[in-house]
Parts: sequence; structure tokens; C-alpha cells
Amino acid sequence: MSGCPFHDDAPAASATAEQSAASAQTSKSQAATSQAATSQASMSQAPSNQVQPTQAQSGQVPATGKDNGSALACPVSHVNSAATAEQPTVVVTGASQGIGHAIVRKFYEHGWKVYTLARTPFTSKCPWAEGMTRHISVDLSDEASVRIAVDVLKEQLGDKPLNALVNNAGISPKNEQGLRLDATQTNLSTYEKVMMVNVYAPLLLTRGLLGPLQNGKGAVVNVSSIAGSRIHPFAGAAYAMSKSALSALTREMAYELGRQGVRVNSVAPGEIETAILSAGTDKIVQTQVPMNRIGNPKEVADVVMFLCSDAASYVNGSEIQIDGGQHVG
Ligand SMILES: NC(=O)c1ccc[n+]([C@@H]2O[C@H](COP(=O)([O-])OP(=O)(O)OC[C@H]3O[C@@H](n4cnc5c(N)ncnc54)[C@H](OP(=O)(O)O)[C@@H]3O)[C@@H](O)[C@H]2O)c1
Repeated sequence: MSGCPFHDDAPAASATAEQSAASAQTSKSQAATSQAATSQASMSQAPSNQVQPTQAQSGQVPATGKDNGSALACPVSHVNSAATAEQPTVVVTGASQGIGHAIVRKFYEHGWKVYTLARTPFTSKCPWAEGMTRHISVDLSDEASVRIAVDVLKEQLGDKPLNALVNNAGISPKNEQGLRLDATQTNLSTYEKVMMVNVYAPLLLTRGLLGPLQNGKGAVVNVSSIAGSRIHPFAGAAYAMSKSALSALTREMAYELGRQGVRVNSVAPGEIETAILSAGTDKIVQTQVPMNRIGNPKEVADVVMFLCSDAASYVNGSEIQIDGGQHVG
């Protein structure tokens, strides 16, 4: 395990001395130029002489008890292979782990400038220096926190275009036994929280960043789910409703924003190997997935990258299933 909360799903390989040195260099210059107090404050190890906004101002939430770790080196090779002066820019929510983290790595490795959003603060122990100045700690279940994140992103982008927004963060609450929450078991407050994180936050982010997205002829990708279109034994009613709504929102926004030069699409993963999965997924995979294996977060990241690229320049309002054929059963 790396000690870096952003890389706990990463393969164990050591960062080279060159990468660490290069990262340290970038870190210095970026720390000197960055004016975004919120983003700076989101670094868990921010220097003490920096002005720290209040928790409410920053949208930062207290540490969740997750292990921020003690190892000094991050094991992920974050070599930004294609970085150029005119880097395209992407914002990714739910970047701290699972599918979101794989998306972040994919874009970073393809030379994009990546802004990350999650509750988990970035850590200075990670040598991916750009990440530290471009991470915003935000609670997507809190409307005020989302609005602050939009303001911070707009301030950081300035008059630069935004080329892609990936609304990936999502929650799937279970009952006390860890089983699916049926429609009649679920509290209204749980419905509201799930809708806020899974639907309204993507709406607020897209709406708030529309100007920069228009400037960049950008693409929005919403991460929906197979549960949005069929009963899933573990997913639960609130989650299914929210993903169904997210797919409908994708359709509505594709219709509305397409004429403004912004494409909006979604992906609907099936069983992908991340922390969100429940015990028993193996059985679903054996009985329902024609390809008879679980998916990898990278396989979702690849499709998201495609949808944000010029290769998908005439794709708008589509949903791509990434489930090994599970949806045909
Ligand atoms: N894995 C699957 O099989 C599967 C299948 C279908 C669809 N999906 C969808 O794919 C997306 C990613 O899922 P995943 O499997 O990678 O899940 P995951 O491992 O549980 O990661 C969820 C991410 O969302 C962030 N998040 C959750 N609540 C948040 C909040 N209140 N504010 C800000 N960020 C929040 C988490 O960051 P912090 O905890 O740091 O805030 C984390 O980065 C979700 O939308 C999920 O519904 C996954």
C-alpha cells in the first residue's frame, strides 16, 4: 500500500528518483503561483504559513478516518507523457479512488491538465505535484460545498477553456446488513443525499462550468450504471433512481448544450472492481456477464477518454455500456 489515499488501487511499482525530483520542482513553482486558497488548503500537508480558509469556505470536510498513510513514495508512475503548452483540461469528480482514480491517471498520462474533486484531501506525500495544486476537497452531498468548488474551479481556470468534465463520483448506500436498500426501506433523507451526490452535483458542476466548457468545445461524461436501467440485486432503489435520472439528465443536456458546442454523454458500467462492490458480485459475474469476468477501472477510463476525445466528435447524448455484455441478458 502506498500511503497515498489517491493511489490505493495502484500496482506496486516504485516512483523513480527523476520523477520525484521533477515533481518537487513543479510543486515549488506551482505553489508559488497558485492563488487559489481553497485548493491550497485542500492539501492535507499544506505549509503552516499559508492562509487556511475555514472548512465552510473551502468545502473541505474533516478527514474521514481513511488512512492517509506514512510511506514517503507514491508507487504510481505519474509521468505526464504528452504535456504541452496547450494542454487540454479536465475536471474529474470522485477522483480519490476506484474508477475516478483510473480516469485521472488516464488523462494525466495523455498530457491533460487534471483538476480532481473528492472529499479526501490530497497528500503532500504524493509526488504528483500538479495534483496538489489542482485538487479541491468538496462534499458533493452539500450544495454549498459544490457551489464553492465551482467558484474555485472558475477562478483557477481564469479565461482558459475547459475541455472535459467527468461526473464520476457516486454513492450507493446499503442497509445495516450491507444489503440493498429497497424502495420502501429507504428514508427520504437517504434518497435526497443520493440524488444530491449522483444527480444534482453533476448538474450544478456542468451548469457552473458551462462558460469554460463552451470555450473549450468541451465534453461532459456522466458515470451512470447498469442499475439505472434494470434491477440490480445489490444496488438499491435510491441508487437506481439516481442513475436513471443521471441518464435522463445526460439526454436533456445533450439536447440543450449540443447547439452550444458542448457534447454530453454517459457511460453505464456493470461490475467493475472497486470498493463500491458488494460481497456476492462474483456470483453475478458468473451468471450474468457473458464475458464471465469482472471489469477493471481502467476499462471504464478508456471509454471515458474516448468520449472526451476528437475521436468522438459527433457522439452526443449517447450512453455506452461497459459491462462485458451484462445488459443483453
Ligand atoms: N464499481 C462498479 O462496479 C460500478 C458500477 C456501475 C457504476 N459505478 C459508478 O462509477 C462511479 C465510481 O464508482 P467507484 O466504483 O469507483 O466507487 P468508489 O470506489 O466508492 O469511489 C467513489 C468516489 O466518489 C467520491 N465521493 C463519494 N461521495 C462523495 C461526496 N459526498 N463528495 C465528494 N466525493 C464523493 C469518493 O471520494 P471521497 O470518498 O474521497 O470523497 C470516491 O472517489 C460511481 O458513480 C458509481 O456509481 C460503479
